[in-house]
Amino acid sequence: MPAIEVKPGVFWIGVNDRTTDLFEGIWPISREGVSYNAYVINGEKKALIDLAKDFKADELLSQIAQIADPAHLDYIIINHMEPDHTGVLRTLRRVAPQAEILAAKKALDMLAHYYHITEGVRAVADREILSLGGGHTLQFHMTPFVHWPETMMTYDVESRILFSCDAFGGYGSLQGAIFDDQCNRPDFYEQEALRYYVNIVSLFPKPVLRAIDKLQGLDIDIIAPSHGLIWRERPEHIVNLYAKWASYAEEPADPGVTLLYGTMYGLTELMVEAVAEGVASAGLPVEIFDVRHTHASYVLPYLYTRRGVLVGAPTYEGGLFPPMMDMLHMAEHKRIQNRRAAYFGSYGWSGGARRDFTAIAEALKWTFDDVWEFKGAPSPQLLREGVSFGRRFAGAVLADRA
Ligand SMILES: Cc1cc2nc3c(=O)[nH]c(=O)nc-3n(C[C@H](O)[C@H](O)[C@H](O)COP(=O)(O)O)c2cc1C
Ligand SMILES: [Fe+2]
Ligand SMILES: [Fe+2]
Repeated sequence: MPAIEVKPGVFWIGVNDRTTDLFEGIWPISREGVSYNAYVINGEKKALIDLAKDFKADELLSQIAQIADPAHLDYIIINHMEPDHTGVLRTLRRVAPQAEILAAKKALDMLAHYYHITEGVRAVADREILSLGGGHTLQFHMTPFVHWPETMMTYDVESRILFSCDAFGGYGSLQGAIFDDQCNRPDFYEQEALRYYVNIVSLFPKPVLRAIDKLQGLDIDIIAPSHGLIWRERPEHIVNLYAKWASYAEEPADPGVTLLYGTMYGLTELMVEAVAEGVASAGLPVEIFDVRHTHASYVLPYLYTRRGVLVGAPTYEGGLFPPMMDMLHMAEHKRIQNRRAAYFGSYGWSGGARRDFTAIAEALKWTFDDVWEFKGAPSPQLLREGVSFGRRFAGAVLADRA
């Protein structure tokens, strides 16, 4: 895509990534893609804010060249060192060896170790001002752990644009439209921002809230992240969403149930249908995921936002069905705590899934009353009990909110 002017003298540049299957080597984006947004400020001095993954460097350089000769850049501002935003740095250094790299103090050691760059680098301080001339003054705001310890944001004082890097970003390559008001798929980008938030940022809710708090003093017209849409019409919308999502780490999540299940021969699955019927009959939304086929990336947003978790899986070699263990371990890694949970599943002779479920649910501080192992295939009578089990669980989830 050609460079796009965001405000006079401020340009979006960036590349869409539709070929990487796993973001950070973990999170699937084959269908959704992702964008690496960067920005050029064309003041008397020329600054580049954020870069891109080591990928499509030539496209990025041509975009810069549409605005200014890349060889004459004055500053390269690194808001965040993760290689999805810095991968092309060495290439850029060769093209613009005189451009000074500006970053947070903590980034300097990383620059040395990731890219072996130690010269022409300067640490900027919190709230430090850099005048570019030509109506552009930049101010740096340290926002550690949104996403890494060295992360900062850059604010263009005159244009009132906040370059927020990972914060307020999302998966989803750009489909021609880069601004929220031009985009005709707002639901897609909102869902992908949530998936991105839960996959990438959710372990750091306090730093996110601290950063949002710190930004309150700024007069912001536009939020320009380094992934996904630029929020020009409703900058407050994405900030409010991030604040809401960060608050889920402490407060009970939305009423609603995530039903995770796995099965070897379909016997536990028969009960899944009965339990789901019970939950739905109580008027609670229930989202069902087969953990054998669904990547945690897609499950986590539901686990993260909903209060109820139902786990249906059989006993396997004396323990809980391993694909379910994997999913629950990911929930543990992402500290999805303080949920209301219940377990059900089929076994053949000894059972044993109960013990694993109980141990991990306790580790996660999940509240649970029902842990229900049944032998073999559920009878019609047992399925009726499954409906009651689901209804009872939904009642408990609703009561938690009351
Ligand atoms: C590989 C394998 C290992 C199993 N290990 C156990 C076990 O250790 N203890 C037990 O009670 N049942 C065990 N079972 C029996 C299953 O738990 C039982 O068949 C159950 O009905 C499977 O439910 P599903 O069709 O939902 O997978 C095992 C079954 C398989 C195929
Ligand atoms: Fe990051
Ligand atoms: Fe990123």
